[in-house]
Amino acid sequence: MARILVMHGPNLNLLGTREPQVYGQTLLAEIDQELRQRAMVAGHELETFQSNHEGALVDCIQQRGMQTALLIINPGAYTHTSIAIRDAILAVGVPVIEVHLSNIYRREPFRRQSYLADIALGQVAGFGPHSYMLALQAACHWLQQQESRASRSTEAAPE
Ligand code: DQA
Repeated sequence: MARILVMHGPNLNLLGTREPQVYGQTLLAEIDQELRQRAMVAGHELETFQSNHEGALVDCIQQRGMQTALLIINPGAYTHTSIAIRDAILAVGVPVIEVHLSNIYRREPFRRQSYLADIALGQVAGFGPHSYMLALQAACHWLQQQESRASRSTEAAPE
């Protein structure tokens, strides 16, 4: 069993009512609930956190990042601006998957820049709430790979 942390940045608490033509009508609580359910089925523990404040997101990464096997994060608008969130992830060394509901490459040019993309294991964007489910699937696959790699290297180690 591994601990997965899912973080949501600013304005994602308004999912459901916020620009539904872009972000859909699903509530954040519904996404979190489905993620928890799917993680449980896969044998993992999943925690969620949302904040509209950059510092609170940094604090959360610092406080929980070290006890986390993998971080799934949608930094919202901080994707395009936050060196602080990038640095916090690098500081604790947690593997990260970046998620976006919308396809940030099909929107305004300023959304094409991500301060996380080059330090992430991968990015999922453009599938609405399903982006999070795809990210969780990728997370479970990655964790499984890590686990089998670790057990292979223990087997190979001389007594
Ligand atoms: C977003 C894309 C960002 O550009 C935007 O600022 C958001 C949501 C997404 O999930 O599509 O708040 O991260």
